[in-house]
Amino acid sequence: MATKGLVPALGGTLVNRITDSGPKGTFSGSETAIVLTERQQCDLEMIAIGAMSPLTGFMGQKDYDSVCENLTLANGTVWPIPITCAVDDATASGVNSGDKVALLDNDRQLLGYLNVEEKYAHNKTMQAEKVFLTTEDAHPGVKVLMSEGDTCLAGPIDVVCPKYDPDWSEFRLTPAQTRAKFEELGWKTVVGFQTRNPIHRAHEYLTKCALEICDGLLIHPLIGQTQAGDIPADVRMNCYTTLIEKYYVQDRTMLSVLPAAMRYSGPREAVLHAVLRQNYGCSHFIVGRDHAGVGSYYGTYDAQDIFTTLAGNGLDITTMNFEHSAWCTKCESMTSSKTCPHGPEDKIFLSGTKVREMLAKGERPAVEFSRPEVADILIASMK
Ligand code: ADX
Repeated sequence: MATKGLVPALGGTLVNRITDSGPKGTFSGSETAIVLTERQQCDLEMIAIGAMSPLTGFMGQKDYDSVCENLTLANGTVWPIPITCAVDDATASGVNSGDKVALLDNDRQLLGYLNVEEKYAHNKTMQAEKVFLTTEDAHPGVKVLMSEGDTCLAGPIDVVCPKYDPDWSEFRLTPAQTRAKFEELGWKTVVGFQTRNPIHRAHEYLTKCALEICDGLLIHPLIGQTQAGDIPADVRMNCYTTLIEKYYVQDRTMLSVLPAAMRYSGPREAVLHAVLRQNYGCSHFIVGRDHAGVGSYYGTYDAQDIFTTLAGNGLDITTMNFEHSAWCTKCESMTSSKTCPHGPEDKIFLSGTKVREMLAKGERPAVEFSRPEVADILIASMK
C-alpha cells in the first residue's frame, strides 16, 4: 500500500519484482536466454524495484498501442513511453507464450526471467513518430529504437540477481526506501529534481526556489544509459556530493540515483520522469527549459505544456515550471524573464560546447555559471 501521507504510487501499489529465490551467477539453465540491451537492463531494474509501478513487466500490445496513441496504459492510467523487450526475429521464433525466458547481462550473468504472455510486432516507425515526433536517425533516442529487434516479448518479470553497476549502494535507494526516508525526516512535500548533467548555477537556482516551497528536495540524477558525450555518472556523482556538502542544507536535501535510461524524447519523457518520481514519493517535480530535450527537436516549454493535457489518470505529482534561468549582471542574482527586466546582453549564458571547451583547457567558467568546486572536478575528469 502507498505510504500514508505521501503521494500514492501510480496505480496505488508499489510493485516489487525482486525475488530472493533462484539460481545465481553465470546462466546454465535450459531455458531460452536473451542478452538484454543496456536500455532493457535499465528498464528491468526500474520495473523490479517498483520505480515503474504499476508495470510488473514488459508491456503487451494493448498497452503499447495505447501508450503510443493516448499517453495512457490500456486501463487509462497515464504512461507516456513504451517499455518493451524487443528481440530479433531469430530469437523470437524460438519463444512462445507460456515460456519462461532467462534474461542475461552482457557477461551472460543471470538477471532474472520474463514470463512470456505475448509476442507482437515492434512498430518502430509508428513509435518514433508518436514518442519522439521524428524518425530521424540523428536523434539519439530514435537511433536506439531503430537498432532494436522487430518483435516485442511481453509479460511479468522476476529478477533474481539485480545488477547494480556501479553500485553506489548508499545512493541507490528504491522507491520504498526513499518513501521510508521522507517519512523518517517528516517531509510531507518533496520536490524531485531530474538531471543528466552536473548541477550548474541555473539548476541550483531551480532546486532552491522549489525548496522554498516544499519540505524537502530529492536530487535524483539519472545514471542509466545516456548518449556518448554526456558527462559520465561517476564524475557527476562527485560533483553532486561536493556541491550538496558545500551549498545545500543537509537535512532538507537528499541525493539518490535514478537507474533509468535517457530517451531524449522531451515532453513525453518529462511525463515519464514525473511518473517515476511520483513512485519514489515526490509530491512535486521540476520541469525547466527543454526538459529531456536534445538538439532542436522540441520547443523550449513543450515539456511543461504537455502536462496541461494530462489531468487525472493517476498522475498525482505536481509540476513546478521554471523559465530559462541565468545570472543577470545588473540584478546580481539568478533570474528568469519572469523576475528580471534586463535583456540577454546582461545575462551570463554559456553553451554546452563552450563550457566543455573551457573545461578541457583547464579554465573554470564564471562563478555565476558554475561553482568553482564543480568546475574543478570536471576539469580534473577531462585530464
Ligand atoms: S535533462 O535532460 O535532465 O532535462 P538537465 O540535466 O540539463 O537535462 O536539466 C535538468 C532540469 O533542469 C530540467 O528540468 C531542465 O529543464 C532544467 N534546466 C536546465 N537548465 C536550465 C536553465 N538554464 N533554466 C531553466 N531550467 C533549466
